[in-house]
Amino acid sequence: MPSTYSPAVVFDPASGLGTREVALRPAGPGEVEIEVRAAGVCHSDLHIVSGDWPTDRPLVLGHEAAGVVTGTGPGVTSVRPGDHVVLSWFAPCRRCRKCVAGQGWLCTGTRAVANTLPDGTTPFTGADGAEIWPYLGLGAFTERLVVPETAAVKVPEELPFSVGALLGCSITTGVGAVVNTAGVRPGESAVVVGTGGVGLSVVMGLALVGADPIVAVDLSPERLAVARRFGATHTLDGSRDDVAAWCREHLGGADYAFEAIGSPKVVQTLPAMLTSGGAAVLVGMAAIGATAAFDLFDLADQGKRILGCNYGSSVGELDIPRLARLHLAGRLPLDDLIGTVRPLSEAAQAFDDLRSRTGVRTILEP
Ligand SMILES: NC(=O)c1ccc[n+]([C@@H]2O[C@H](COP(=O)([O-])OP(=O)(O)OC[C@H]3O[C@@H](n4cnc5c(N)ncnc54)[C@H](O)[C@@H]3O)[C@@H](O)[C@H]2O)c1
Ligand SMILES: [Zn+2]
Ligand SMILES: [Zn+2]
Repeated sequence: MPSTYSPAVVFDPASGLGTREVALRPAGPGEVEIEVRAAGVCHSDLHIVSGDWPTDRPLVLGHEAAGVVTGTGPGVTSVRPGDHVVLSWFAPCRRCRKCVAGQGWLCTGTRAVANTLPDGTTPFTGADGAEIWPYLGLGAFTERLVVPETAAVKVPEELPFSVGALLGCSITTGVGAVVNTAGVRPGESAVVVGTGGVGLSVVMGLALVGADPIVAVDLSPERLAVARRFGATHTLDGSRDDVAAWCREHLGGADYAFEAIGSPKVVQTLPAMLTSGGAAVLVGMAAIGATAAFDLFDLADQGKRILGCNYGSSVGELDIPRLARLHLAGRLPLDDLIGTVRPLSEAAQAFDDLRSRTGVRTILEP
């Protein structure tokens, strides 16, 4: 029986968002116990709180985090106690056809999206003995957690935990959308609609590969100012400017249009921003069941493409250490994405930061 309890930020469909004491069971075979040092607050956590992605069970939220290994279960070989790790929320099964083909971001065997560990269990129990489930197989808004070995990616010790946390989701997704999903080449043009944590990471990825021009679109002037610092060459106000008309007039249509909001209304406007043969990249995640309508003749006639992007089409074990090294070498200013740093007890305010677009990415520290 677990003996100690720690506070965790829990979304319960019956009672909403709150803090609960949870107990953690020890790491079992193939599992790793981690002490969380920093966790980012991503819109994918907010999608749960807002009901876009309904859950029938209480969840420990948080899926963008970094920490230190404190224990390993039988059979774990890739990390050991004391290692610094980034948590990867789409823990691949390593057995399905996609995993075998090296496409872990398309894994069909993962249980992460069912909000359980690979064996279908949860490591968390509430004070009343009831099970509380790990969001995306992690549940990082707490002090300690247990994850599958495939979710714990070792990173250099000199990497700050806050940067590591953001490598767990927004950065790997955003930069990966550019280099993996789209394969943008130097000199190609791109529009990024929505410059929160994920969209700004797309802008950073575009600057890294030498895209030009890079057009950032948001509703927040502060976010657009940050986008400029990250390499956007032009910025547009999404509430006022006709982005598609601007792209046609100034670029003859963009080679790529990234959406990093999850808004069907915005997604529908992407193909009109593109030149022939261009690609719309759907990085934002819409509410479950949301649909969009497209001009089908234009898509077919102009050879335009629509690309889905899960986790930046990344393989965590390869891409996370790679991006960490680029940051440490001064090639990616990932620390500029860090906004307010708050204690875990201020999780509610951290969600308010996200809703009100205050700062860039808020980090919670247990
Ligand atoms: N594909 C993936 O694997 C993956 C991974 C992480 C997050 N996501 C999704 O990416 C999306 C963005 O996440 P985030 O954490 O960056 O969110 P965020 O809330 O930090 O950023 C969203 C941004 O969009 C802007 N915006 C909203 N409506 C707009 C409009 N009409 N025009 C222009 N800008 C607008 C907001 O001002 C905000 O800056 C979410 O849907 C999230 O679930 C997807
Ligand atoms: Zn996320
Ligand atoms: Zn798999």
